[in-house]
Amino acid sequence: MRARGLCVAFGENSVLRDLDLDIAPSEFVALLGRSGSGKTTLLRVLAGLQPESSGSLVVPQPRSVVFQEPRLLPWKRIVENVALGLRGGTARAQATAALREVGLEHRLDAWPATLSGGEAQRAGLARALVRNPHFLLLDEPFASVDALTRLRMYDLVIDLWRFHRPSVLLVTHDVDEALLLADRVLVLEGGRIASHIPVGLARPRDPARPRYAELRRDILSLLGVPLPTAPDFDAQDALAAPYPFATGVSA
Ligand SMILES: Nc1ncnc2c1ncn2[C@@H]1O[C@H](COP(=O)(O)OP(=O)(O)O)[C@@H](O)[C@H]1O
Ligand SMILES: [Mg+2]
Repeated sequence: MRARGLCVAFGENSVLRDLDLDIAPSEFVALLGRSGSGKTTLLRVLAGLQPESSGSLVVPQPRSVVFQEPRLLPWKRIVENVALGLRGGTARAQATAALREVGLEHRLDAWPATLSGGEAQRAGLARALVRNPHFLLLDEPFASVDALTRLRMYDLVIDLWRFHRPSVLLVTHDVDEALLLADRVLVLEGGRIASHIPVGLARPRDPARPRYAELRRDILSLLGVPLPTAPDFDAQDALAAPYPFATGVSA
C-alpha cells in the first residue's frame, strides 16, 4: 500500500499531518506511538473508515480490520458472525474453515457471550481472514487478553500471516509485541511516521538476544522512555526482562 500526504484534523486538532507510508506486499509492519498520537485514526483511514481525510491512498483489496474488542453480534452464533456479509451458498463452509484455522472448530454454534476473551479475539481474526484480505489491519487486538493467551495469539497470527501472506499493519503500544511480530516498526509522532526501524531478526524472536535488547532500548527511547544506563544499573538484566513482564508504553 502507498499513502501520500495524509491529513486528518478534528476541528483544531490536527492528528495526521502530511503523512507518507508504504507497506510492501506481505510485509508485517507494527505501528507504535503514544496514546492519542493518532494510531487508530491512521488505521481507520487505511481501512476506508475515516471519510474526513485528505491525501492520496492506494490500498490492496480486499482489506480486513480487527479491533481491540472483537465486536461480535451477541444474537448470532459464532459461525454466523464469521459468515456475516459473505454471499453465496458456501458462506457457512468458508466461515467454518476460517474458524478451524484459528482453532475454534468446536465452538461454531456457541454464542459470543460464552467465549473467553482469547476465543472471542480468535473469532474476530477468523472473521477478518474469511475475506482473504490482501491487507490486514489490526488495532491493538491483543490488548484485552491475558499475557499467556497473548503469547499464543502471537504464534497464531504469525502462522496465519505466513500461510495467507497479507500485508499487515499492527497498531500497538507494546514495544515487545512489535519486536516479536513485525518486519519493520514505525513510530507515529507529530502526525507523521517519525521513525522506521527494520527488525531484521529471525523468527521466532528471542528477547534474550543482545540485538533484540538493543532495538528495544532504541525504540523505547524514541517513544520517550529512556532506560537508565548508570554504571551500577545492570541494564542487560532489565533489557532482557522476559516478556510478558517487559515494559509497554502508554501515556
Ligand atoms: N472522531 C473523533 N472526533 C474528535 N477527535 C477525535 C476523534 N477520533 C480521534 N480523535 C482525537 O484524535 C487524536 C488521536 O486519536 P487516536 O487516533 O484514537 O489515537 P491513538 O489510537 O494513537 O491513541 C486524539 O486526540 C483523539 O482525541
Ligand atoms: Mg487507538
